[in-house]
Amino acid sequence: MDEIRIKFKACLLLVVLIQISSAAAQQAPTDPNDAAALNSFKLMWKNRPPNWENSDPCVGGWVGVTCNNSQVISIKLSSMGLEGQLSGDIGALTELQTLDLSYNRGLNGPLPAEAIGSLKKLSNLILVGCSFSGRIPSTIGDLEELVFLSLNSNSFTGEIPPSIGKLSKLYWLDIADNKLSGTIPVSSSSTPGLDMLLMPNMPNTCMA
Ligand SMILES: *[C@@H]1O[C@H](CO)[C@@H](O)[C@H](O)[C@H]1NC(C)=O
Repeated sequence: MDEIRIKFKACLLLVVLIQISSAAAQQAPTDPNDAAALNSFKLMWKNRPPNWENSDPCVGGWVGVTCNNSQVISIKLSSMGLEGQLSGDIGALTELQTLDLSYNRGLNGPLPAEAIGSLKKLSNLILVGCSFSGRIPSTIGDLEELVFLSLNSNSFTGEIPPSIGKLSKLYWLDIADNKLSGTIPVSSSSTPGLDMLLMPNMPNTCMA
């Protein structure tokens, strides 16, 4: 009798543990501000992933979107054939650490300067191989956590913003193959960790 009771208790415990772990794996509904930003991307982009039709980004597991505690921390949509512009609503993604929209030639227009400047947690900005144009926003210099900046092969014009020189954690800077002018805004004292530097008209310049 006792043996049966112990087995039953063990079984009950197992069921409870399984329920706890599956609850932990489930995502809470997306923060309303973050959801609004993603829905604005959804309206502006062609060829977005089909499962973006699920109503809630975090709960619905939108392809390319990673959430942590209801907030979006990463958007990775490389080589999806996306077409359209980058909505200024991106500024609402206050926990965003990684934005990778690389190799979507159909993404064009200017980067929303003010919105980009408010992404205080952003550490990776990877827009290589798109068709973004206009100036590189000087607000990128406000992104203190930025370590990886890859804007290679777009249609950016004008001066390289000197504010990039303020990015003390920058490790990778690639702005080659655009239509930029101006001088290299970084020095070994302002960006001590910089390991890789690709500049306009210098296809393969490495800084040791
Ligand atoms: C997720 O959020 C928790 C609590 O806010 C934080 O401690 C953790 O570092 C976050 N994880 C990531 C990957 O950002």
